Formats: sequence, structure tokens, C-alpha cells
Amino acid sequence: MNGTRTFTMIKPDAVEGGHIGAILESINSNNFRIVAMKMSALSKVEAETFYAVHRERPFFADLVEYMTSGPIVAAVLEKDNAVEDFRTLIGATNPADAAEGTIRARFATSIAANAVHGSDSDENAAIEAAFHFAGREIF
Ligand code: CMP
Repeated sequence: MNGTRTFTMIKPDAVEGGHIGAILESINSNNFRIVAMKMSALSKVEAETFYAVHRERPFFADLVEYMTSGPIVAAVLEKDNAVEDFRTLIGATNPADAAEGTIRARFATSIAANAVHGSDSDENAAIEAAFHFAGREIF
């Protein structure tokens, strides 16, 4: 392994908006190596499980509905300091607060439909990658 790993999803709004290519280009040109990737769709139970940490939040039901509204692209990314550097690249959760040039500033439409997910710790990155990928799908 060259560096550390983070997990990302291109969310339904960004897939629907035709932004997969531009987001992958941004990932590549910022020196992240894609070590796993696939397009899939989350079931309600899968979305509830993936976002279980937010179960008590007022936006939980909307979040699950949104994340099951269409396909997503899941990927594992490798780079030195991957978790923190990827969170810098995607920008703040709320696109209104996201720095210019970040993926969310460019492609997110709201705090809920915010284009991409990025893990918040190395530990969660490993959990989230294992949720979406078998070991033989990560290179
Ligand atoms: P993400 O960082 O992937 O993980 C939690 C998600 O919940 C977040 O992106 C948003 O899509 C959503 N979210 C977070 N805060 C809010 C909020 N205040 N209102 C609606 N959705 C939110």
C-alpha cells in the first residue's frame, strides 16, 4: 500500500447530473490512486446501515431516501494522508460553506444532496470500504 486509504461515494445527485467523469478527474489530478471502484445502488436497509451513526438526526429519513434515489459510485482512494486531504478536496458538508474549486462547491446542490461522501477517519474508511467491497475488489 502506498500511503493511507479513504472511502468515497459519488452520490445520486452527482451521478444524475452527469458529474462522474469530472469528479474522477479531480480525484486523479489531486494525486489520489483509485484502488477500488464500482457503480451500485443502495437498498433502504443498506443506506440505513451505512449511515447508522446519523440514525437519531432529524435529517436521517431524508438522507436514506436521497441515498436510495439512484445509483452511486463507490471507490477506495489511496494517498499519503488520504482522509484529511480528500476532505479538503471535497470541501465543507454544506456547499454554501465549501471553498471555491472544491468538489462540493462545483457540483453539490444542497447540504443533503452534497455530491460526494468522504470518510472522516482512517477507522471509518476501513469500515466503509469493507461495507461496499470484498477484499478481492480492492487492489
Ligand atoms: P456525508 O458527509 O456523506 O454524511 C452524512 C450526510 O448527511 C451528509 O453527507 C449529508 O448528505 C447529510 N447531511 C448532513 N447534515 C445534514 C443536514 N443538516 N441536513 C440534511 N442532510 C444532512
